[in-house]
Amino acid sequence: MKIALGVSGGIAAYKAAEIVRHLQERGVRVQVIMTAAAQEFVRPLTFAALSGEKVITSMFGSSAEQPNLDSAVEHISVAQSIDCLLVAPATADVIAKFAQGIANDFLSTLYLATPAPVVIAPAMNVNMWQHPATQANLEILRQRGVHVIEPDSGYLACGMIGAGRLAEPEHIVAATLQRLGIVQDLAGETVLVTAGPTHEPIDPVRYLGNRSSGKMGYAIAEAALRRGAKVILVSGPTAIQPPAAAETIVVESAQQMRTAVLDRWEHASLIVMAAAVGDYHIKNAATEKIKRDGAMVLQLEPNPDILADLGSLRHASGRASPMLIGFAAETENGLENARAKLTKKSVDAIVLNDVSRSDIGFNSDRNEVTIVTAAQTIRIPEASKLEIAQRILEFAQHLRAKREAAATKSV
Ligand code: CTP
Repeated sequence: MKIALGVSGGIAAYKAAEIVRHLQERGVRVQVIMTAAAQEFVRPLTFAALSGEKVITSMFGSSAEQPNLDSAVEHISVAQSIDCLLVAPATADVIAKFAQGIANDFLSTLYLATPAPVVIAPAMNVNMWQHPATQANLEILRQRGVHVIEPDSGYLACGMIGAGRLAEPEHIVAATLQRLGIVQDLAGETVLVTAGPTHEPIDPVRYLGNRSSGKMGYAIAEAALRRGAKVILVSGPTAIQPPAAAETIVVESAQQMRTAVLDRWEHASLIVMAAAVGDYHIKNAATEKIKRDGAMVLQLEPNPDILADLGSLRHASGRASPMLIGFAAETENGLENARAKLTKKSVDAIVLNDVSRSDIGFNSDRNEVTIVTAAQTIRIPEASKLEIAQRILEFAQHLRAKREAAATKSV
């Protein structure tokens, strides 16, 4: 997900740095756009360093003598690629430009060009805020569907007291994500996700693996970050980039994955085991490369079942937390096998994945799953893995709320 953050010229411009950080913590990429006035308050370099992206500071690139053709159409490509335009702080000037459709710099042009939702967080002197011109402009924007995050009241930089202080960065980020339909219901919680295959060494150059790409687990990690969780991602070897805001531990074998998970499981309130853990490892893997010499016999030994171990540990602790969700990769008798895994591993839900289909599942960007619990079977129709991830987390929250309500009733 990518958000364009417009920073306009007010004393609160420095607070936009904190907004960048909070957005990144939720796995959001941020493209900062600064107005000329904003650059009087904060240097673009600050935002470039924080966001890891080039900051857009003008309509035609940095050199007036040699205007850059790419820059001349950049507002269109940014406009098309963002999921939201957030302006914080939004000055009276920017609000007026947006309301009147004046497009004389990058930010005001982007506002007209983007089909993405727009959120503004005004900050200004109390008299400017209360002025009928500003209020009329805000009303025009609200009518057009722009979401206005009201400023706070208090001491203002100009020495006056009243409304006009930029809302808290944390609140701005939460309200923006809420506006995009992303609830912050996992804020303050830790979610542990496993992803990808495991590689069980045969010798120093060969391994026993499986076809898992890691995409489903990474999507769950990203979805949990967006909902405000701290995410621990324990990943087998994959070719994909983990979300930057997750604490990622890369492992190879099932045994290493088990150690990484068991070292951390107690911090989590939800654990989703999306990894395709290898069921076997090679007994006595060779320490030197095995030479080709006719037929080779490999002896396999079973790996520990990490999810079942978690089920036992939780049972022994006498707690209902963490909630445990496993996956079941099946090619036949899916529901029956998923139900058997639910009981055998003592978990709260199993997400059934039909891996026999080549259009979804392993390696695909899309999936179609069925969530199986002791009481319910819920089919989630085909969607992107990120959407499926959101639905799984929604379901986990729903299940938890139901259990908490039942527990309160029985007290
Ligand atoms: N799992 C695990 N440790 C293992 C094997 C599987 O934690 N050694 C977890 C997986 O991450 C998944 C769930 O258990 O969440 C089911 O994995 P799956 O491979 O479908 O089932 P298995 O238990 O391995 O059974 P089988 O291969 O016989 O279907």
